[in-house]
Amino acid sequence: MAFGTGEHPTTRLCLILLNGLIKGGEAVLDYGTGSGILGIAAVKMGAAFSVGVDIEPQALSSARQNIALNAIEPGRMPLYLAPVKDQTRSDGLKTRTESFDVIIANILLNPLTELAEELVSYGKPGAVVGLSGILHDQVSQVEEKYSKYLESISVSEMNGWACLAGSLKWIKGHHNIQALHRDFALKLLFLGNPWT
Ligand SMILES: C[S@@+](CC[C@H](N)C(=O)[O-])C[C@H]1O[C@@H](n2cnc3c(N)ncnc32)[C@H](O)[C@@H]1O
Repeated sequence: MAFGTGEHPTTRLCLILLNGLIKGGEAVLDYGTGSGILGIAAVKMGAAFSVGVDIEPQALSSARQNIALNAIEPGRMPLYLAPVKDQTRSDGLKTRTESFDVIIANILLNPLTELAEELVSYGKPGAVVGLSGILHDQVSQVEEKYSKYLESISVSEMNGWACLAGSLKWIKGHHNIQALHRDFALKLLFLGNPWT
């Protein structure tokens, strides 16, 4: 079982955030999906679809099983393998563009800070970005990194763990924030389609 039984405070904080956000019909990105719990929960709450991304093939296998166990049509939660850091994009990798209403990432401090520009590039203007996997003492580092992209930032905490959430800023003069990050422009890399 990949991380994500629902017992860990960071997962619970993300589930509480999703419960308040999903009204019906949203496009959700679950970055660092693990067992798939957050993306599955989002669909169960009424999201139109969620996309699960993980760096570990084993996590995607687990997520795929859990999608089936929860009777979610595979098309409502496609799964993609994220490239490992500094990996050369092989010929087998394709690109896909997406744009999301909600981005949730429960993946610890270092990947959250390293992936900041990429993660925000996946969101529509006004999208809510939820970031977890961080300790109370690490909130300021995450906030410092993301405050240029997010507004109305709030922080929820449980047992010393935290989840930071904010809305993607609308930058005047730009159609949306993605224009500022063309290099990252909404590209999810994936290997064919082995996980759906
Ligand atoms: C703490 S678990 C969270 C699992 C589940 N989303 C949850 O909330 O319970 C973090 C997951 O992020 C994945 N991960 C870590 N670094 C990543 C990266 N750079 N890109 C994509 N996934 C990553 C790990 O493989 C792991 O499955």
